[in-house]
Amino acid sequence: MTKPKIGIILSSTRQSRFADRPAKWVLDIAAARGDADYDIVDLRDYPLPFFDAVGSPRFVPLTDEAQLRFVRKIAAFDGYIFVTAEYNHTLPGVLSNALSFIFNETEKKPAAFVGYGTVGGSRAVEHLRMLAVELSMVPTRFAVHINMEPLLGMLRGGKDFGDYDYLEPTVTTMLDELSWYTRVLKSGRETTALEKAA
Ligand SMILES: Cc1cc2nc3c(=O)[nH]c(=O)nc-3n(C[C@H](O)[C@H](O)[C@H](O)COP(=O)(O)O)c2cc1C
Repeated sequence: MTKPKIGIILSSTRQSRFADRPAKWVLDIAAARGDADYDIVDLRDYPLPFFDAVGSPRFVPLTDEAQLRFVRKIAAFDGYIFVTAEYNHTLPGVLSNALSFIFNETEKKPAAFVGYGTVGGSRAVEHLRMLAVELSMVPTRFAVHINMEPLLGMLRGGKDFGDYDYLEPTVTTMLDELSWYTRVLKSGRETTALEKAA
């Protein structure tokens, strides 16, 4: 089996976003493991219109080259880590819109989650788990939740992840589980024909 590739997908494109900090923090911890190639996917690098096709890409293939560039990027990964903000108790619309361009590129691949917000982005993560199932991903149980105290400490108090030493072990637990599913599902995809989804 070739080394798995895992995409770390940011959910926010706001100019003043916090998203870069947790994404880089997770990337550094993950890359040091050597178990996969980890790569950040910044939706700013894939400007997409509001989804406007006549039907789901499941039934109406995309033809626009800029949209296909995003789809191919997602298709190249064996697993995903969604680093998500929480807007109005759910995931940011920009991520939801981007995932409208996807259908089978994520099939039978695991998805793990890093949430941040007043309650650790937990509502956004739960909604993303359901969305992931519809895109045939396998959502993992262990997630990272950066809640109000560390979030405000970092946004306004000059703190950094190292000041909250209980957070890093949760990344390790999340990555351990993701790594297992990534290898097992990659092996399964490579050795067993996928059943055609209805
Ligand atoms: C439109 C909007 C809605 C928000 N709604 C929530 C929310 O429901 N729950 C929450 O914990 N934080 C909420 N926040 C605060 C965000 O947690 C905080 O702004 C965070 O930095 C957003 O992530 P970002 O900076 O990466 O975009 C909201 C922020 C915005 C801009």
